[in-house]
Amino acid sequence: MKHLLSGALDRADAIALLDAAEDMHEVQGRQLKKLPALRGRTVVNAFFENSTRTRSSFEIAGKWLSADVINVSGSASSVKKGESLRDTVLTLAAMGIDGIVIRHGDSGAAQLTADWLDERYPAVRVVNAGDGTHEHPTQALLDAFALRRRIHGNASRGKALDGVRIAIVGDIAHSRVARSNALLLPALGAEVTLVGPPTLLPPGIEAWSVRSTSDFDEVLQQQPDALMMLRVQLERQQGAFVPSTGEYIVGWSLTDERRKALGDSTVIMHPGPMNRGLEISSRAAESLQSAVLEQVTSGVSVRMAVLYSLIAGEEPQ
Ligand code: CP
Repeated sequence: MKHLLSGALDRADAIALLDAAEDMHEVQGRQLKKLPALRGRTVVNAFFENSTRTRSSFEIAGKWLSADVINVSGSASSVKKGESLRDTVLTLAAMGIDGIVIRHGDSGAAQLTADWLDERYPAVRVVNAGDGTHEHPTQALLDAFALRRRIHGNASRGKALDGVRIAIVGDIAHSRVARSNALLLPALGAEVTLVGPPTLLPPGIEAWSVRSTSDFDEVLQQQPDALMMLRVQLERQQGAFVPSTGEYIVGWSLTDERRKALGDSTVIMHPGPMNRGLEISSRAAESLQSAVLEQVTSGVSVRMAVLYSLIAGEEPQ
């Protein structure tokens, strides 16, 4: 794998990355967290869209691997003066960097970045940190990692998610997290059900290797092994997809009542940031079943593994 652009990984590659993340998780638990693996390497975090978790965890991951990490934000870059994304990417690459982690509001921006760099600076690796409504592969990997640890604990290494029943609930149409998880989790053997209002299930969903339904309560009765609640992406919804937030809550929110009806063994997940009281209640988010903060912790382990796998071992530019 040269770049990480999509959650569409084959099973062996996905397990290898999750196992590498186990090694990094062990480092993360140490008092002294530095590894020399990327000493002398430079990684640019180019974020043209807001982020707390992804941006910070990529920065921490790069630093714990001893890389030099540079942060470039859209609002503070020459993009504000009208520079194109292509010129920005090639300008950064021309400085001699080894990797670029890119978040962008446009679907396909990460693939374009990889294409431009392959042509001109083929040694530079690209990681998609979220492109529009398209994909967010490291989020899917960290979700798989956190869930695998919940299920298999310290014996996770080498394991997949065979037969694990996961419901992903909410604004599927606008969710790059849902798309990357819908590609990655079935490859790991999980049985995925996408749940949301009919207007927030994307066209063509029948072709995905998942089940889909609008009946959240029917899914809850089946006591899934994990519930992944998605943020309602008000900023990406250009029209009214549900008549009101009240109706959304009635149909698709993980309310206190629904959480009480769930078995204690269902793991509650959310990629963050959460709209508490909209797609998830505070009690559900804070419950013992909630893996939300474990997902955040896993983000550092997984992103260390991704940077290590893509950049270490390659000849410097
Ligand atoms: N889950 C996620 O991508 O969060 P951020 O937008 O804070 O990075």
